[in-house]
Amino acid sequence: MSSHIIIKNKIRSFNKRITVSGDKSISIRCVLLASQAIGTSKIFNLLESEDVTNALKSIRKLGVSYRKFKKFYKINGYGLNSFSRKKKIIIDAGNSGTFARLVLGTLVNTKNIVKVIGDRSLSKRDFSRITNPLKKFGVNISSTNNCLPVEIEGSEYLRPINYYEKIGSAQCKSAVMLAAIKTPGTTKIKAKKSRDHTEILLKNLKIPIKISKKKKFDYFEIKGPSNYSGFNYNVPGDISSAAFFLVMTLLCKRSKLTISNVNINKTRTGIIEILNKMNAKLKLKNKRIYKGELTADIVAESKSNLQSIDCPKNINSSAIDEFLIIFLVAAKAKGVSKFYDLGEMNKKESRRLDIAINFLKMIGVKVSRNNNSIKIYGNPSLNLNGKYEMRDFQKDHRVFMMSCIAALTFGGNWKIHNKESTNTSFPNFFKIMGKLGVRLN
Ligand code: S3P
Repeated sequence: MSSHIIIKNKIRSFNKRITVSGDKSISIRCVLLASQAIGTSKIFNLLESEDVTNALKSIRKLGVSYRKFKKFYKINGYGLNSFSRKKKIIIDAGNSGTFARLVLGTLVNTKNIVKVIGDRSLSKRDFSRITNPLKKFGVNISSTNNCLPVEIEGSEYLRPINYYEKIGSAQCKSAVMLAAIKTPGTTKIKAKKSRDHTEILLKNLKIPIKISKKKKFDYFEIKGPSNYSGFNYNVPGDISSAAFFLVMTLLCKRSKLTISNVNINKTRTGIIEILNKMNAKLKLKNKRIYKGELTADIVAESKSNLQSIDCPKNINSSAIDEFLIIFLVAAKAKGVSKFYDLGEMNKKESRRLDIAINFLKMIGVKVSRNNNSIKIYGNPSLNLNGKYEMRDFQKDHRVFMMSCIAALTFGGNWKIHNKESTNTSFPNFFKIMGKLGVRLN
C-alpha cells in the first residue's frame, strides 16, 4: 500500500463550518484518571486516534475494563490500588510521549514490575526528565540510556516529594501529580508555566489540590492518597488540530472557516496570540466554560497583509506543538520574524526545529539560526512552482500535516510520505479536507 500523497494544486476558496476531533491531552488524561476512579466514567467525544487507543489498550492490560458506545466510552475503575498484579505486564505507548510519561506516574504503587515501551520515535526521546522525579517517591525505576524501555516497580512505602519542574513540561508536571494522588502526605510542586489540564481535572474530581499561580511559575500542594469517584466528561475540540485549518484559511484566498467548540484554555492559545500579533484577526465566538476549561468557536478568514513577529519566549510553552505551522505564516509575512529558545521542539515526535528549518530552506525561504533561536525572512509573494518531496521525518504527524498545508497554499508539485501518520493525533484530517473540497488520498 502506498503511503504517500501527491498534491499538485492549491486549494480553492471555501466558506465552511467544521469541528475537529477531541483534544489529545485531555483525552489521555481522562482515560488515565477514569481508569483509577471508583465507579464508572463516561467520556464523550474522546479522540479516537492511535495515541489514545494505545492508552485504552494499556489500561485494559492493567486490568481495567472499558466499552465503546455510540457516543461515549464507558470506563470502569476500582480506585487507586486496583491495577492488575500480574507479572510481566508490558505497556506499549506507541508514539505517545504524553501517555508514556503520564502512565509512569500512575504506576508508582504497582506490585510487580511493569515495562513501558514505545515505537522508534518515542524510543529516542528522553525519559530521565520523568524517571528522576519518580525515583524520589521511593520507586524502583530504570531506563536504557535515559530512554525507553523503562521498567518501574512500585512501592508500598511511597513518600511525598518536593519537585521543581524547570522545563515548562506539562507531561513531567502531570506525571508527578498523578503519582502524588497515590502518595500519603503532601507533595509540593513548583512548575514553570505549561498546559494545566491535569490540575483542572484534579480540582473537578475534588482531589485535595492547592494551586497558586504566580507570573512565571505555578505552585501546587497535593494531598494523598485520595480516591475519587467516576465522572462524566465531554472532551472539547483540539486547538492543536484546529491550528492546521486556521493557518490554511489565513494563507489561501477569499476563504472563511469556523471551527466549533475548540478548547481555548489560555495555556494552549499561544497560536491565537501569535497569529493575531501577525495581523490575522482570528475571532472567538460563543465562549463558555466547561468544567474549568474555556471553549469557543474560532473564526478565521484569509488575510493578505500578514506581518512578521518578534515572538516573546514566554509564549513558547502555550504554542509548543504549533510552531511548525506558525512558521508557514512567518514565511508569507512581511518582514523578518524572530523566535527564541525553541530547543524543546527538537525533543518531540521528531527533531521538529531542525526539520522546519530544512523545510523552509527547501521551499526557498531564507532562515538564519543561532542555537535554538531562528529568524524567518518572510516573502508575501511566496508562490511555488517546483517539485518537492517530504520524507524522513520520523513519521511525525504534525510535520506531515504542516507539509500538506504548505503544498495546498503555496503551490508546487508535492510528494509527501507517511500519510498514515495522521492517525496518531487527527484521523479525521483527510475527511475534513474533503469537506473543504480537497481529495488527498
Ligand atoms: C503535552 C505536553 C507537551 C506537548 C505534547 C502534549 C501534554 O509536551 O508537546 O504534545 O499533553 O501534556 P511537554 O510537556 O513535554 O512539553
